[in-house]
Amino acid sequence: MASNTNINPTIIFIFGGSGDLTNRKLIPALYNLYIDNYLPEKFVIIGVGRTHFESDDEYRNKLLEGVQEFSRRKEEIKDKWPSFSAAVSYHELDLLVDDTYESINNWVTDKAAEWNVKPTLIYYLSVAPQLAPEISKKLAAHKLCEDKATSRIVFEKPFGHNLQSATELNKLLGTMFGEEQIYRIDHYLGKETVQNILAFRFANALFEPIWHKSYIDHVQITVAETVGVEDRGGYYEHAGALRDMVQNHILQLLCMIAMEPPVSFDGNEIRNKKLDVLQALRRITTEEAHAYSVRGQYAAGWMKGKEVPGYRQEKNVSPQSPVETFAAVKFFVDNWRWENVPFYVRTGKSMNEKTTLITIQFKESPRYSFPASAAETWRPNRLIFSIQPQMDIRIRFQAKKPGPDMILSPVEMVFNYADAYKEQEPEAYETLLEDVIEGNPTLFMRADQIEAAWEVITPILEAWQKRPPVDFPNYAPDSWGPEDAEALIAKDGRHWLSLPPK
Ligand code: BG6
Repeated sequence: MASNTNINPTIIFIFGGSGDLTNRKLIPALYNLYIDNYLPEKFVIIGVGRTHFESDDEYRNKLLEGVQEFSRRKEEIKDKWPSFSAAVSYHELDLLVDDTYESINNWVTDKAAEWNVKPTLIYYLSVAPQLAPEISKKLAAHKLCEDKATSRIVFEKPFGHNLQSATELNKLLGTMFGEEQIYRIDHYLGKETVQNILAFRFANALFEPIWHKSYIDHVQITVAETVGVEDRGGYYEHAGALRDMVQNHILQLLCMIAMEPPVSFDGNEIRNKKLDVLQALRRITTEEAHAYSVRGQYAAGWMKGKEVPGYRQEKNVSPQSPVETFAAVKFFVDNWRWENVPFYVRTGKSMNEKTTLITIQFKESPRYSFPASAAETWRPNRLIFSIQPQMDIRIRFQAKKPGPDMILSPVEMVFNYADAYKEQEPEAYETLLEDVIEGNPTLFMRADQIEAAWEVITPILEAWQKRPPVDFPNYAPDSWGPEDAEALIAKDGRHWLSLPPK
């Protein structure tokens, strides 16, 4: 039997057990952990939701379909499914009524008696964000999270809608639980390539000495998607690109590039160092926001030969919607290391390419040693972390072109994950769920980080709210976003970077 005997027996409750996230991400991830022997020897997964299933078997079959469709594993998924799914059950219950929590209490008591041990309890809130406060209150009222060491609650994003609501939610949770019990998900932190930024920076001597304003001209982060909002219009109308991607994923990537070396890999130490970055991010005023940010919304048009709707034609979206599906921001980290080094970030839906790239553009080196004729294609060094879907790290440097004359040209050195490692990398949710089960909060957002991130983007949100967009939709599908985004960076004499075509 797949097991890890070092981990305490665990009950995983998935609230929203019949939802999309459970099907696409949570169960495929838990099943992969099971296949790889990372789950505890004794565990059960209890889905709770309002959808009706005739039996546990019907529920399990639906989950198996999800695994077959969405798991990174296409082979070997059948073998262990019967033993894994025997530990999975479903209960059709309303999470807003007290009886549900009575039932949960009974299941916990029964399992503790059967296993003869106090189990670890995980409550995964895969529910609409507005339900999170009420469910949390009920968990507390029914004393289901009393033991801080063995009970944990997982919150999906969005965590809050703005600074005020996030602060209120943190405050409320703080009255009921210890911070160490609260796991706020940012799934980007579970990605292998994102975690590797820390390894790259802090386990190598080569780059850290030049990771500094003296050598770095600027940093760029691009998180582009080719898909539109698909069937998430209802959610997205209350979010927009700044809330959906910048406040969380992109600021976290920025923190990993800009943070100081941690003294240890202790969860709080790393989060402290990231918090320092968030606190050093320049606070701009609402009046200044337009000089630092650009928004956009995709129009109807063509994507890779297929006709696609504009944002305003998507399901559950207002035909006059002012919501942005693209955001670009110029950030500054006002500390000694990064003084005046711009961090340009952009993200959008319905764009030309699916790509997440972090580019460190170094300053030009002096050209004195070479005649002008050698240096016609002079290019400064560049380091690129290609986070997804292509997973590599590449360094651009100057080389001499073969031939009798000294002619320089830029070349690339590439570390490619697929070539270097045979093992398939785990999905972000596998890493994150394993950390929740083991009680390691390093890759989760702490209350103070969440609030600092909201604080940074609030002036932009306010400025955009004050001045409804007059030019939406302002970019075509399959493009790199609105022209103003080009202008944001071009006015500093720079341009957006993407990977060279293969
Ligand atoms: C989510 C956003 O957090 O991240 C989505 O809500 C977005 O809008 C998604 O599509 C992107 O995640 P990934 O892992 O595909 O880059």
